[in-house]
Amino acid sequence: MVDLTTTYLGLKLKNPLVASPSPLSEKVENVKRMEEAGVAAVVMYSLFEEQIIHESLELDYFLTRGTESFAEALTYFPNIGKFTLSPEKYVETLKKTKLAVNIPVLGSLNGVSSGGWIEYGRKIQDAGADALELNLYYLPVDVDLTSSQLEDNYLKLVSDVRAGISIPLAVKLAPYFTALPNFAKRLVDAGADGLVLFNRFYQPDLDLENLEVVPHLVLSNSDELRLPLRWIAILYGKVKADLALTSGVHTPEDAIKAIMAGANVAMSTSAILKRGSNAIQHILTGMEEWLVAHEYESVKQMRGSMSQGAVAEPAAFERANYMKVLNSFNPDSM
Ligand SMILES: Cc1cc2nc3c(=O)[nH]c(=O)nc-3n(C[C@H](O)[C@H](O)[C@H](O)COP(=O)(O)O)c2cc1C
Repeated sequence: MVDLTTTYLGLKLKNPLVASPSPLSEKVENVKRMEEAGVAAVVMYSLFEEQIIHESLELDYFLTRGTESFAEALTYFPNIGKFTLSPEKYVETLKKTKLAVNIPVLGSLNGVSSGGWIEYGRKIQDAGADALELNLYYLPVDVDLTSSQLEDNYLKLVSDVRAGISIPLAVKLAPYFTALPNFAKRLVDAGADGLVLFNRFYQPDLDLENLEVVPHLVLSNSDELRLPLRWIAILYGKVKADLALTSGVHTPEDAIKAIMAGANVAMSTSAILKRGSNAIQHILTGMEEWLVAHEYESVKQMRGSMSQGAVAEPAAFERANYMKVLNSFNPDSM
């Protein structure tokens, strides 16, 4: 028997496969099904800053009916679409989920600004969440906003959330930072116990017939693993935080690569949305078989064994790799 256990954010997990936020966790039955299939923990879908602010503005509006300013303020918020589950409903679903399953359940907050809405971190904690994942998802479109201002805003948000809760805090971030290792280190200094690499940005498309900008959500495939894989390998041992890999985990090999690069856990959404519980069982049984076949006794033994600090050629993770890749292309094969 191989030992698949791992730890993440101080939680003891039976294996390194975690279900990352998705609409599946809106329903308690789905979380139970994922638990039965074997996931070691679930991160709930996110509660968005916009949802909380929208709701409190609506409340203000009703309380001060007749004052035009609130009605106007409401129109500043973009249509928040199908995210109709109210913040209260979110907390309720989290409580019910916690009661229904035995695996750790993490709450998720998605926002970019410090402010009253972050008290929801504490509400999520009070609802029984084992940890909180804070998703930093902002698209800087203002030409006057500098990268250091943006990073400072994020760091303030992380330290404000940290100050409001006592459960472990993970920060989920995008890959688009000029000096990612430095920012990662400062996130940890601001109070992050774990880093979740990376958010996937969903790029809009253009509908040429209707001349509209349309949302375009495509589920991932294993090719997308390599971006977080590289950065986990680089950050392992350099930042004092647990690491979670999200994006592109579809097969047992993907999960094993995540661990070998240095992740405590491999997170999956697209594979589970595409193939349901089968995806979970396939990844876990495949991992176990792989460990046995390659004479590993435990996941812990594998962790970080192919991080940048551990491999024979650390430069393969850096600029040198760029030239090598370009040179490896053979135009004669076209
Ligand atoms: C339909 C859908 C909904 C998602 N909702 C959230 C969310 O509420 N909060 C969040 O942090 N990530 C959300 N994600 C991102 C996933 O948690 C995950 O990080 C991303 O899909 C990359 O992992 P994957 O390659 O396994 O899909 C969502 C993804 C999808 C496809």
